[in-house]
Amino acid sequence: MEMFLIVKKVKEKRLRIFYECCFSDILKNCSIWYSKSIKPMRDISKPDYNPIEMFTQHLNFMTSQNKEYYRILKDKNLKGITSSIREGDARKTGLHSDSIDLIITSPPYAISYEYADLHQLTLLWFKFTENMNSTKQKFIGTASGQEHFSEEITFLAKKIVSKLSKKDKSLAKQISRYYSDLGLVYQEMRRILKKGKRACIILGDTEYKKVKIKNTEVSIELLRNSGFEVEQVIKRKLSSKTFTPYRDQEGKFTNSSHGQKKKIYQWEYIIIAKKQ
Ligand SMILES: C[S@@+](CC[C@H](N)C(=O)[O-])C[C@H]1O[C@@H](n2cnc3c(N)ncnc32)[C@H](O)[C@@H]1O
Repeated sequence: MEMFLIVKKVKEKRLRIFYECCFSDILKNCSIWYSKSIKPMRDISKPDYNPIEMFTQHLNFMTSQNKEYYRILKDKNLKGITSSIREGDARKTGLHSDSIDLIITSPPYAISYEYADLHQLTLLWFKFTENMNSTKQKFIGTASGQEHFSEEITFLAKKIVSKLSKKDKSLAKQISRYYSDLGLVYQEMRRILKKGKRACIILGDTEYKKVKIKNTEVSIELLRNSGFEVEQVIKRKLSSKTFTPYRDQEGKFTNSSHGQKKKIYQWEYIIIAKKQ
């Protein structure tokens, strides 16, 4: 708490934001948040931590990464380039039509993480939300989404949803909403991109009770329907990611030591699509 107040008092705005990001990054390690879980869980046996030490260590790491970033800019003669970060909804960015040269994005992979839960400590500490339930509903892929518009989903998407509804009706609805949201994101991407410019979309497929949830193939269909030419799909094996989830045969999340486990993401795909 004391640490947070010190960070908040830093006068220089850019430095304060840098410190706030650092503080946000250490929240999980400095609390009883169960680090190996993809859901908010407590670990009351967690050893004591030293927030000042963790903050300093992480600040050093962030500083060295920043130095590396500016070194690359300098090496590539891009020194004058500026950047800014805005918070918004990918379905409705508010950016001008035909104004963007390149989009690089990684949408949620559906039914894997509740991102609002994963960001919970940051959202609450920085008062970005007071009501987690209503915040959750804004996230794509959430289980808490409301019944909203019914955007047309593709033939393959319908097939997946219909297979899933035999196993779990509410999950099938969630996936249907997810695909409909992805469709809206791709339409928005097409709107803001300049003609002939590209979007790189990184995402993974998943599986639930033997139903293959083919997010990549569905995305390719959705992108084509939105007016993109899909130029390339690059497949790459994932390195051992801390948060790579496993599921047991019942479809429940489990840890890697479970006998009947199945790794959910072993591969990741990068779709390169050009606005026609
Ligand atoms: C697969 S992760 C990508 C993470 C990102 N590449 C990074 O390094 O932080 C998907 C991200 O999409 C975000 N997300 C969920 N709903 C969104 C929405 N409606 N608009 C924009 N982003 C959203 C989640 O919060 C999550 O951080």
